[in-house]
Amino acid sequence: MKKTIVLLGPPGAGKGTQGEKLTDEFGYTRLSTGDMLREAVRNKTELGMKAKEYMDAGALVPNDLIIGLMNEKIKEVSGGVLLDGFPRTVEQADALGKVMDVDLALDFDVPDEVLISRLTQRRSCPDCNAVYHLVTKKPAKEGICDKCGAKLYQRDDDKEETVKNRLEVYHKNTRPLIDYYQKKGVLTVIPSDGDINAIFETVKKAIQ
Ligand code: AP5
Repeated sequence: MKKTIVLLGPPGAGKGTQGEKLTDEFGYTRLSTGDMLREAVRNKTELGMKAKEYMDAGALVPNDLIIGLMNEKIKEVSGGVLLDGFPRTVEQADALGKVMDVDLALDFDVPDEVLISRLTQRRSCPDCNAVYHLVTKKPAKEGICDKCGAKLYQRDDDKEETVKNRLEVYHKNTRPLIDYYQKKGVLTVIPSDGDINAIFETVKKAIQ
């Protein structure tokens, strides 16, 4: 099974959803820069204070902050690891290549028009980071996380205007990583405009 996997794809493509399933079924450690940054913002840490204005605008947090954060986290993991939301720029990918070999990059491919409705109807758990959707993945009890019982919330950056900006930022800065990992021979594209469980079956084949 592939050990180090990068999850690529635009906002709302299903990186968190499929990453959560891989973690539950195969025990991967999921390192999500988005989850780490949101926790830092909630706890008002120095990193959180610096990151907040970028996140609220749907912009990327500066590379030096992110690379430092991930280098620390990567040192702590052993076993299979999923990198969700990192790298997001060629500079971040080069920095990652210096500390870790990537075995597989999964590109979750979804048309932009589908993403806006996915994100504006997403609900997230602040405690365990589980992800829900008002239509396609409802929690058993409305507004409550199935896994840990916390109250679900809507992310600040899931408002339509911010989502549009995040998509532009993705196309400009992160989409080039598809070519980057294709050239390294580790890219697999996962068509991801379909049923969550059917997509997971494709993901499971790709990680073997
Ligand atoms: P981050 O948290 O990483 O956000 P993102 O990449 O924009 O991705 P999302 O979490 O929005 O989407 P996802 O692909 O995980 O989709 P999900 O599974 O939740 O980053 C947030 C911000 O932090 C950035 O804007 C930036 O400011 C900063 N940041 C983070 N990393 C950074 C970095 N490396 N460098 C610089 N800045 C960084 O699914 C979405 C919804 O769709 C859910 O409701 C889900 O239930 C539903 N859904 C999923 N799959 C399906 C399906 N197949 N069918 C129907 N619905 C589905």
